[in-house]
Amino acid sequence: MKRRHLIQAASLTALAFATQFAMAQDAFKIGLVLPMTGQQASTGRQIEAAARLYMAQHGDTVEGRKVELIVKDDTSLPDVTKRLAQELIVNDKVNVLAGFGITPSAMSTAPLGTQSKTPMVVMAAATSSITEASPYFVRTSFTLPQVSVAMGDWAIKNNIKSVVSLVADYGPGKDAEKYFNERFTEKGGKVIEELRVPLRNPDFAPFLQKVRDDKPDALFVFVPSGAGAAVMKQFVARGMDKAGIRLIATGDVTDDDQLNDMGDGALGVVTSHHYSADHPSALNKKFVAEFEKANKDMRPNFMAVGGYDGMRVIYEALKATKGKGTGDQLLAAMKGQKFESPRGEVFIDPATRDIVQDVYLRKVEKKDGQLYNVEFDVIKAVKDPGKTK
Ligand code: DHB
Repeated sequence: MKRRHLIQAASLTALAFATQFAMAQDAFKIGLVLPMTGQQASTGRQIEAAARLYMAQHGDTVEGRKVELIVKDDTSLPDVTKRLAQELIVNDKVNVLAGFGITPSAMSTAPLGTQSKTPMVVMAAATSSITEASPYFVRTSFTLPQVSVAMGDWAIKNNIKSVVSLVADYGPGKDAEKYFNERFTEKGGKVIEELRVPLRNPDFAPFLQKVRDDKPDALFVFVPSGAGAAVMKQFVARGMDKAGIRLIATGDVTDDDQLNDMGDGALGVVTSHHYSADHPSALNKKFVAEFEKANKDMRPNFMAVGGYDGMRVIYEALKATKGKGTGDQLLAAMKGQKFESPRGEVFIDPATRDIVQDVYLRKVEKKDGQLYNVEFDVIKAVKDPGKTK
């Protein structure tokens, strides 16, 4: 009897030691670098809110290890992103970097992730080539080629014979321009003009005047999240729709974050994208309801979903490596994840580390007095076409 008690006491002590050890063990740190202020602030706000929602739903301890989120504001300036990423790696010793609101921010950090073998989860930026800039990038957002090709097909099928394209003049805009225009012309359409507007403080007025003069059947637009409302307002204010020019775009333009403020001028605009807050799945309804409950007056957009799924990819990698994965082990456990996201089924292609997902055609409609991107067609399991060329 006595002996048994002793053994029990000893194992209790061992357990207490183990628990103490677990508590003393460093937290698992995720460095979330995002634009929280400036032109791209809505991206940061959406992603941070979604990451915090994921943690509230799934707990802040994985395999006995505390998860800590460190949020830094890069103001969407790539030099700042790079400096913050460096500090997070060297001083905070983060296990994973994540976020990356715009392409130049992701690109500036690529060599740091590679050198330090730190997985970098791209939750927002969407230029095809990002994942080729470092083998430590894993993407949970989307790519512009992935969503733009479907829009080219739709335009042809819907009797649009000529277009002008108008894109933000940097990586994702060039991708959208190339992949939409190539598809559209391959199928017999005519691109009258390719217009590019500056990323910083764009003035759309002179560009829209040109479009009016060109008189295409449609204007195809890509601008990053946050800039869509300005395009939409000017498009309507200049009477482009009345002049018989249709607006078609990637879903970045009819961004769920801003859509309700765009007014009825947005009704009927067709876009292609990977996420709509209106996506009719049980999982998405739960996601939207819980997101809105936790964040007053905010509707989750495609950035939020990129952040939410990015956290899923990180949590599952941490689980798979029993809470102690090295950078390389975590990266390996991120590759090949397949799961249901609020947007639909997704897959992290282990060969490219890029996301494979459904792309939807959607039309802006009013439901219960609110504007939504209502899905009416889907192309299943689309890989980034940028990786096969
Ligand atoms: C990028 C940023 C966006 O806000 C967006 O909607 C698409 C792409 C980017 O910089 O990669």
